[in-house]
Amino acid sequence: MKTRKWFTSILIFSLLSMPFAAVSTAAPDKTGEYGLNFNTANYTEKTLTVDGKPITYRAYENIVYVKNPVDVKYEIMNIYIPEAYYEGESIGSYTADTAPIFFPNSVGGYMPSGPGNAGEDRDGKANAALVALSKGYVVAAPGARGRTTQDENGQYTGKAPAAIVDLKAAVRYLRYNDEAMPGDAEKIISNGTSAGGALSALLGATGNSAEYEPYLKAIGAADKRDDIFAVSAYTPITNLEYADMAYEWQFSGIYTYKKLQMPANTDFNAERVLVEGTLTEDQIRVSNELGKMFPEYVNSLNLTDTRGSLLTLKADGSGTFQDYIKSFLITSAQKALDSGTDLSNLTWITVRDGRVTDINFDQYVAYVGRMKTPSAFDGLDLSNGENDLFGTATTKGQHFTQYGVTNSKVSGTLADASIIKMMNPMNYIGKEGATNASNWRIRFGTMDSDTSLAIPTILAADLKNSGLNVDFALAWGVPHRGDYDLDELFNWMDGISAE
Ligand code: DHB
Repeated sequence: MKTRKWFTSILIFSLLSMPFAAVSTAAPDKTGEYGLNFNTANYTEKTLTVDGKPITYRAYENIVYVKNPVDVKYEIMNIYIPEAYYEGESIGSYTADTAPIFFPNSVGGYMPSGPGNAGEDRDGKANAALVALSKGYVVAAPGARGRTTQDENGQYTGKAPAAIVDLKAAVRYLRYNDEAMPGDAEKIISNGTSAGGALSALLGATGNSAEYEPYLKAIGAADKRDDIFAVSAYTPITNLEYADMAYEWQFSGIYTYKKLQMPANTDFNAERVLVEGTLTEDQIRVSNELGKMFPEYVNSLNLTDTRGSLLTLKADGSGTFQDYIKSFLITSAQKALDSGTDLSNLTWITVRDGRVTDINFDQYVAYVGRMKTPSAFDGLDLSNGENDLFGTATTKGQHFTQYGVTNSKVSGTLADASIIKMMNPMNYIGKEGATNASNWRIRFGTMDSDTSLAIPTILAADLKNSGLNVDFALAWGVPHRGDYDLDELFNWMDGISAE
């Protein structure tokens, strides 16, 4: 148990601070450094309702979480704490000492992201942060630099690994201040969608890995551990070195596409503009080349299912790994059927006596449709967002696969191997030197074609094979999005937190 110092200081400050608007713009001291001590007095009190019930909380906003930030627009965090914890009350089974800390990032498209708020989602429903507060979680919503962040001289400051370094620094800040604020920094649960899902997984996989240390030191992160308790990841756009192969393995026979037009301010919450087209002969050649490379990668992982059977692919792309993916599709379809979804017009599903017995994988893939052109992530013309992720201070974008650099149409360069490594959770799962989160929940929609189904499936299987607690499922009919099943997410979070 921790000793709690915050309670007395709160009593003193709460009366003082109530009438004032919070002065949340942190300022550096005379040496130019920001302080790392959580200022308990610097909040505004807010009340929102969830399901008709008011939840009053303290909003500590725009807290700079490192001593030497590169960009104070992004290296800041919003911390929201239920007022009940300052009154010595509990919410559900949580108290000020035991409340888990929900840690949602707002990253989309590997772009820079500000810290999230508690409020409504785009459908007008309580967002994950607000639901978390209503259930007694402390919320810490970090911002992070991203691939387009630049300083006043036009130098890029948010290229890989900046975003993961920032998230780690925010975790360290929470540990540094664990005694000064309600919530248990040993129960940090990360959440994110898409690129944010990838970063959530990366944060969970790379705990305390020494490779990030020089970057953390450079920005003046607290000298604390950065492993976390649990990961929630929706549609993680991850394992980027192998995502091109996985995409072409899945969509190999699909020659038409509806490609997402990447706006300058890519945001997974924004309306998506799709451009239709047909693959060129050259793109079909690239698709075939990449797709053929995937079985060797899958087979090199030595993944097994729950019964210990190897998950492999033959040269033609079929095999136990594909059957394994199909089993998740079937489970998802069954769940939809059981809850009353009409599947009768989907001719690629076989249902007998209320049981989904088979799914024709190729027809399912054709139904979902191709969203990206080959190569889907490491663009041969360096035009993809992921290329920009791997740029440098002075180079907008680079390749991050051998195939990409070898076949580059623009004489692109290959990113530093150590930096490519640092962006992929697969390099840290079950590996010495990294503390992996113990609990994982991974979701991917069956109508999502932003990456291959194989990518989250491989991630989940690797985590399971490393003995971690993994809840992986495909969400029926769901396209590329996250936070669509908050009741189930919080049931899972409550479950792991109670153990
Ligand atoms: C996101 C979506 C993508 O298709 C991609 O390649 C990278 C990121 C996103 O929504 O964050």
